[in-house]
Amino acid sequence: MTVSSRTQVGIVGAGPAGLLLSHLLALRGIDSVVIENRSRAYCEARQRAGLLEAGTVELLRAVGLGARMDAEGLEHGGIYLQFEGERHHLDFRDLTGGRWVTIYAQTEIVKDLIRARLAAGAAIEFEVSDTEVGELDSDRPVLRFTDSAGARHEVTCDAIAGCDGFHGICRDSMPPGLIEVAERGYPYSWLGILATVAPSTDELIYSRHVDGFALHTMRTPQVSRLYLQVPADEDIERWPDDRIWAELRHRLGVPGWDLKEGPITEKAISPMRSFVASPMRHRRLFLAGDAAHIVPPTGAKGLNLAIADVTVLAAALTSLLREGQAAQADAYSDACLSRVWRATHFSWWMTSMLHVDPHADRFEAALQLSQLRYVVSSRAAATTLAENYTGYFPLTWASLPESTRGRGITRGPDGAAGAGPGRAARTAPRPLRSRSGIAAR
Ligand code: FAD
Ligand code: DHB
Repeated sequence: MTVSSRTQVGIVGAGPAGLLLSHLLALRGIDSVVIENRSRAYCEARQRAGLLEAGTVELLRAVGLGARMDAEGLEHGGIYLQFEGERHHLDFRDLTGGRWVTIYAQTEIVKDLIRARLAAGAAIEFEVSDTEVGELDSDRPVLRFTDSAGARHEVTCDAIAGCDGFHGICRDSMPPGLIEVAERGYPYSWLGILATVAPSTDELIYSRHVDGFALHTMRTPQVSRLYLQVPADEDIERWPDDRIWAELRHRLGVPGWDLKEGPITEKAISPMRSFVASPMRHRRLFLAGDAAHIVPPTGAKGLNLAIADVTVLAAALTSLLREGQAAQADAYSDACLSRVWRATHFSWWMTSMLHVDPHADRFEAALQLSQLRYVVSSRAAATTLAENYTGYFPLTWASLPESTRGRGITRGPDGAAGAGPGRAARTAPRPLRSRSGIAAR
């Protein structure tokens, strides 16, 4: 037997994109159903990104998700770039007129979102299977899945959001021939660890070493996150903890600085790829986040892009479903892809400047070093890095009703708590000026 139901927006995937979309829609009085094939515990523990652009932080605050992030997040005003045995500091605040980034793990954003959605009475179905999307050439697309108890469901929707990550089913459900893919593989991977030890640095260290790239980042004042470039098809078994620490010391070391070591609690290898699918929409099926595009992690854009997509999508769906206006929905794909390609370029540039390509010759290695020297010696070059790193287009949460615009949200239509009055001055969803010269939306 199939259980039939109805919602306005069917959302596939309870990652940051799907959960935030559901939250933003609820603030606008639009109901949604989120389905997820993993368990809640798995979604909350999956180790991924950790660095938020200023615009992402401001958006999360403006929609009532800033409390724990503000209490526990670590604000950073710059990074270190290291090469040829020397460490150089880039001061983002100075270079960009005060911009910054925040370390706050994706796991914590997902926890905050799930808690907020469930507290608001939202429908999130974990551990579903056999997800399908259908009737895509109509204005009533259908979401089908089997719940954790084995019951088959069919949900009729006004729109479906494919927020199901790179390996999801929504992208492949688009009509054959519609989607064009542009992609690039890289001949290396990242081995990432989480270690229970205080970070050995105040700000992130990106190190280009002749034996491969290394990154020192962090999660909290007690937990460090570190990455090592390893061969593309590397086997994690070849990296016992002692070897990882020795290689990190080797690649990150500079005279007078020590890397603190501690118990490794998580260890995984991630491949590196750039991938952009366009368009991100077919009629009433919209792709968002990793379902449509992925970037190599250098520069930390993946999570920020996912959040940006659904911010644009929530406004577009509000306009479509509440006012019957299709203009924003029609512009959705192009609006997102403009940001996506900027981030794709930046991630490719950071990746190729900092990693050792096993196939590169002396010419390419010399170009890399020349580029790094230019970034740390030219204010214009350093500003380019800083501006891209801290985030370019402002995220505007423009579909707030007039009654709440500019004052911060107090309580959404579904009862979800919003930004309190104490934060209103900081969180007012004002459009920031685009510093990149590319028109803000
Ligand atoms: P996801 O987080 O992938 O969420 C998609 C959700 O959909 C998942 O929960 C999945 O289980 C669910 N799903 C999939 N298929 C189905 C289905 N058929 N039915 C129902 N549910 C389904 N970014 C950075 O900025 N910095 C980093 O350091 C970084 N490290 C990363 C490491 C790894 C291993 C990976 C994979 C990504 C990393 N990223 C990083 C990228 C960043 O984490 C992603 O860009 C971000 O998770 C995108 O969010 P999303 O919601 O679009 O997709
Ligand atoms: C992190 C990951 C990145 O790829 C990056 O460039 C910066 C930070 C992180 O996991 O904290």
